[in-house]
Amino acid sequence: MILVTGGAGFIGANFVLDWLDGVDEAVVNVDKLTYAGNLGTLRSLHGDLSHIFVRADICDRAAMDILLADYQPRAILHFAAESHVDRSIHGPEDFVQTNMVGTFTLLEAARHYWKDLPATAKETFRFLHVSTDEVFGSLSPDDPPFAETSLYAPNSPYSASKASADHLVRAWHHTYGLPTLTTHCSNNYGPFQFPEKLIPLMITHALAGKPLPVYGDGQNVRDWLYVGDHCSALREVLARGRPGETYNIGGWNEVKNIEVVHTLCDLLDQLAPKESGLYRDQITWVADRPGHDRRYAIDARKLQRELRWKPAESFESGLEKTVRWYLEHQQWVNDVAFGDYRKWVETHYARSA
Ligand code: NAD
Ligand code: TYD
Repeated sequence: MILVTGGAGFIGANFVLDWLDGVDEAVVNVDKLTYAGNLGTLRSLHGDLSHIFVRADICDRAAMDILLADYQPRAILHFAAESHVDRSIHGPEDFVQTNMVGTFTLLEAARHYWKDLPATAKETFRFLHVSTDEVFGSLSPDDPPFAETSLYAPNSPYSASKASADHLVRAWHHTYGLPTLTTHCSNNYGPFQFPEKLIPLMITHALAGKPLPVYGDGQNVRDWLYVGDHCSALREVLARGRPGETYNIGGWNEVKNIEVVHTLCDLLDQLAPKESGLYRDQITWVADRPGHDRRYAIDARKLQRELRWKPAESFESGLEKTVRWYLEHQQWVNDVAFGDYRKWVETHYARSA
């Protein structure tokens, strides 16, 4: 079996659902269930004996040791993290704790488990660390996209905490020989994304008749990757990636934020027209994010060359699927976007107004 951390969050849950749909191998899913983790996302697995959910904090070494001893996984896929840049600006402490201390704790638990495995299991064991392109900092318009060899230059508390985790993973491979794999992916979108992130925030605000808050001049560029494509890339890296290597995963879809918002509004005008007016009328310009990275772009050629992976979804097809999914799953949004999340939206956007 495999052990997944953060499998009740957006990407981790998509990974678990896709895995159990296509592979006959059980998953132990370890998640602390912060505001971003939702068991409702995994409802379709209820009663499926191949899915074992354990509520635990990756910073809890004793809990991690027990899980590894009990379930004897052949691999760990590490998704668990605090993941929202805006929250990291207002409260960096949780990011240092989970992303840095949590990754350290998991690496130590994995190292002690791995070193005592029988020879063959030790040889084939993998620790796959899911990281981000944001560790490489910000690109100028004419810079080439980030390659695996790009220098680290994180600019936000979030990206700095992920960069620190990457360095720990690298060191655990070089010093202790732990068979690690690290992936850097670009901005994901798709079903089950928590509505604080750009694409689901714009869809849910549009449908609720609320303002669509675009930061700064709206010209920041992100390289969008459909979550299903990310999951297929991770399966390839896990199966055939070389220990100690890093792999970039991107969608070859560089788009300016304002263009993303316009496209979403146009799709909603077609799929869920308003009684009067257009969704674009709800766009509002708000103060920029402090230290806002201008452009991210991923060069994913290594993954294509070595593992024959490329994304299946175009931005147009992926975005339409995503909009349709949110239209059909408004109850999921209502279930996750309550209490603390409402408070976050009120205080965060009041600050940026
Ligand atoms: P998410 O915020 O949706 O989910 C994170 C999950 O981790 C949640 O279920 C949460 O409960 C869990 N978690 C948080 N702290 C924990 C702890 N201490 N112990 C156990 N579980 C804990 O994040 P996501 O968007 O699914 O991102 C998953 C991974 O992918 C993260 O490592 C993130 O840095 C990386 N990543 C995400 C994106 C993106 O666009 N979403 C892009 C690049 C990289
Ligand atoms: P986000 O989804 O938070 O991802 P990241 O910061 O990790 O790239 O934001 C994507 C882009 O959208 C980023 O440039 C910030 C911008 N943005 C807005 O303009 N308005 C918003 O309300 C949010 C959440 C993001």
